Amino acid sequence: MKVLLTGGLGFIGSHTCVELLNDGYDVVVIDNLSNSKMTMIDKIKEITKKDFSFYNIDYRDRNALEEVFEKEKVEAVINFAGFKAVGESVKEPLMYYDNNVCGAICLLETMKKYNVKKFVFSSSATVYGNPDVVPITEEAKIGRATNPYGTTKLVIEYILDDLYKSDNTWDIVVLRYFNPIGAHESGLIGEEPNGIPNNLMPYVTRVAKGVLEKLSVFGNDYNTHDGTGVRDYIHVVDLAKGHIKAIEKLDKENKGFFVYNLGTGKGYSVLDIVNAFKEENNVDVPYVIAPRRPGDIDSCYSDPTKAKNELGFVARRTLKDMVRDSWNYQLKN
Ligand code: WQD
Repeated sequence: MKVLLTGGLGFIGSHTCVELLNDGYDVVVIDNLSNSKMTMIDKIKEITKKDFSFYNIDYRDRNALEEVFEKEKVEAVINFAGFKAVGESVKEPLMYYDNNVCGAICLLETMKKYNVKKFVFSSSATVYGNPDVVPITEEAKIGRATNPYGTTKLVIEYILDDLYKSDNTWDIVVLRYFNPIGAHESGLIGEEPNGIPNNLMPYVTRVAKGVLEKLSVFGNDYNTHDGTGVRDYIHVVDLAKGHIKAIEKLDKENKGFFVYNLGTGKGYSVLDIVNAFKEENNVDVPYVIAPRRPGDIDSCYSDPTKAKNELGFVARRTLKDMVRDSWNYQLKN
């Protein structure tokens, strides 16, 4: 089966590319390199000893996208492309709606034109907003994203729901990621955000390496076991394997619209992460308690039962694996 990955050189995309190649899939990657590097191509090939097609295009460029569909007999698409920095989305909402939403529409229209209707969408737990109840199931209310980034994910989910209702020959799986961290055990690929990291783990690894002076812990007065924010951190390799399960489902069954949380079902606080990182890697991570970050919520973690029952997906990697692999990547890059 030939799978097209948009944004396939990014953090999640590159790890999923590795897992697909390892499992014998043919892979086509498009990426506009706005938040990734060409060097990722050789690293993926080094890890898998497999080849794949790459096109340096923007998925909003309809002509370029159609050329790829003309040339490559794509059978399914995983859409990773999109901007994903929460803070940036608050400052540049139009840039986020254009890239994430208009891009997705351009992609889906092109898929429809070429009669490619197996689609996996990279969504996010942010669509749940500040949950009334944790752990969060897929039946929890959505529609209260706390920032434009999260709203772009929400809008695309609505688009996919309407698309399926208009034409039930589509086969769609929406994956709501919780907090992806870690890196491939080789240390060749990992999280490489542009500029100063917004997310916790890449910030921690840079403080540990001395690239950044100290970590600001955004608030310690949340309603959690130690006052710092709690999230459901999932190893990026587990997350990538969740996509393989989604593709297997699309390959086996036909026609449907499915939504799954991809998380571990465990919540860890900021200080749990920092302490685990320091202990496992025997390295210091200086930090200060700072004011809360606007838009942050107290606690968010998944109920992963549905993905286990329907996809056969269970996240296997532990918190130790996550902090060790994150540090290993930072040391090697
Ligand atoms: C985690 C915790 C912060 C940085 C967002 C998106 C989500 C996904 C991941 C793209 C929170 C605290 C963080 C720091 C800190 N995005 N923190 N100091 O906000 O849960 O989720 O990023 O894939 O869709 O919504 O992740 O890593 O930013 O924050 O104390 O310097 O770490 O307050 O409690 P978040 P995060």
